[in-house]
Amino acid sequence: MLTTIESGSCLRDDGLLAQLADRFGTPLFVYDGDRIVQRFESLATAFDGYAGGVRFHYALKANTNLAVVKLLLAAGAHPECISGGEVELAKRLGAAGSDILLTSSSKSPAELELACRDDVLVNVDSLDELQQLEAIARRLDRPVRVSFRVNPDVDPQTHRHIATGHKLTKFGLLLEDAHYLEGFKIAHKSEWLRPVGIQAHIGSQIMTLEPFERNARLLCAAFLELEAELGFRLEFIDLGGGIGIRYQPQHVELQPSDIASAVCGIVTSALGQTRLPQLWFEPGRYFVGGSGVLVARVHSVKHTPFRNFINVDTGFNQFLRPLLYEAHHHVRMIGNAGLGEQRYDVAGNICETGDILAEDRELPTPVAGDLVALEGAGAYCYALASEYNSFPLPAEVLVRGDSQVDLIRRRGTIDDLLRAQQWPSDFGEAPSGVEA
Ligand SMILES: Cc1ncc(COP(=O)(O)O)c(C=O)c1O
Repeated sequence: MLTTIESGSCLRDDGLLAQLADRFGTPLFVYDGDRIVQRFESLATAFDGYAGGVRFHYALKANTNLAVVKLLLAAGAHPECISGGEVELAKRLGAAGSDILLTSSSKSPAELELACRDDVLVNVDSLDELQQLEAIARRLDRPVRVSFRVNPDVDPQTHRHIATGHKLTKFGLLLEDAHYLEGFKIAHKSEWLRPVGIQAHIGSQIMTLEPFERNARLLCAAFLELEAELGFRLEFIDLGGGIGIRYQPQHVELQPSDIASAVCGIVTSALGQTRLPQLWFEPGRYFVGGSGVLVARVHSVKHTPFRNFINVDTGFNQFLRPLLYEAHHHVRMIGNAGLGEQRYDVAGNICETGDILAEDRELPTPVAGDLVALEGAGAYCYALASEYNSFPLPAEVLVRGDSQVDLIRRRGTIDDLLRAQQWPSDFGEAPSGVEA
């Protein structure tokens, strides 16, 4: 039986996780900094042979802790941001505006203005947005670089909530629709817009090559169509993120070398060997997903004639993926690799029926106070966390090398729960921690 998916990582060191839980309390997110960097490097070096050059944008949304983002920027990633907030975070880490890619299907005028002022590359999602952006660039007298997010209508063979590249989703300009070409024409003619690239992010947690291959073929065809119609070559083709990771023992990850040889082969055979565009990717999960665990403590164990429950001190407010995406995360009892005696649901502390973090797992019977590791918790876990049911947010710890441990986010407090609340003046004295 496989007892962990984080092979070769400090995250499988139960002694270390137990020490960290004692020192920092639970629930606790623990990240393996070396693994994050190693994942970046293994993907980057796989593309070394591509003559056009390659660039990786880290999708900040996967894990926005600044220490995690900093590791990836220092390794050579560029920021891929979804909001003005993420742009500001990337800038605070020292990223130049011109290194940032802003992709969202619904950008506010303030976000478009921020992008123009900071020379951020705007990945445009609609003609309406393009016109608004042009007006802002003209008003500010600052030409802006744009790419277009297109919708290639590719099935990424993943959960429906994270499939973004088929034509019924809200994302991008349909490749099969004249709007995509129209967008490039408008940008090409405008003195305020500089079209430099084409992007399609087709979905997340993709475990097969075929959707990436199809996306690459379609973007190359669009690249050639643009060259034929408008007479210019784009600087880059961006295939988005989406590389899947091993959440379950039977999952087999795509190897970086297989992705590189498939994609580079398609691009070079479609576009030739010279004057190749740069290839861009926007992984999030691939770098950080398997590089984190959530350590939780058992509150109690309950056996019933129908189901057995291990009740823990976290819930879907801090670990939403099972509920949101029907995601399966591998779970193990820390310090007890023994075979399961019974089947258990690992149940959260939120007052909702759906708060089951892992369903029907064969686990050794724990006692109150034991520790559980919820694996694959580095991406889209803390980032999706809320204070629902008035639980303060968990702490986050980064481990590097043999023994470097840094608390990279302190545990939330009751005052944090109240930090933005305001007290109406006619209600009398404000409760402690609330601003009058
Ligand atoms: C536009 C865009 N790029 C990149 C990503 C990162 O995807 P992943 O974490 O699956 O690599 C996402 C995720 O939703 C996205 O929306």
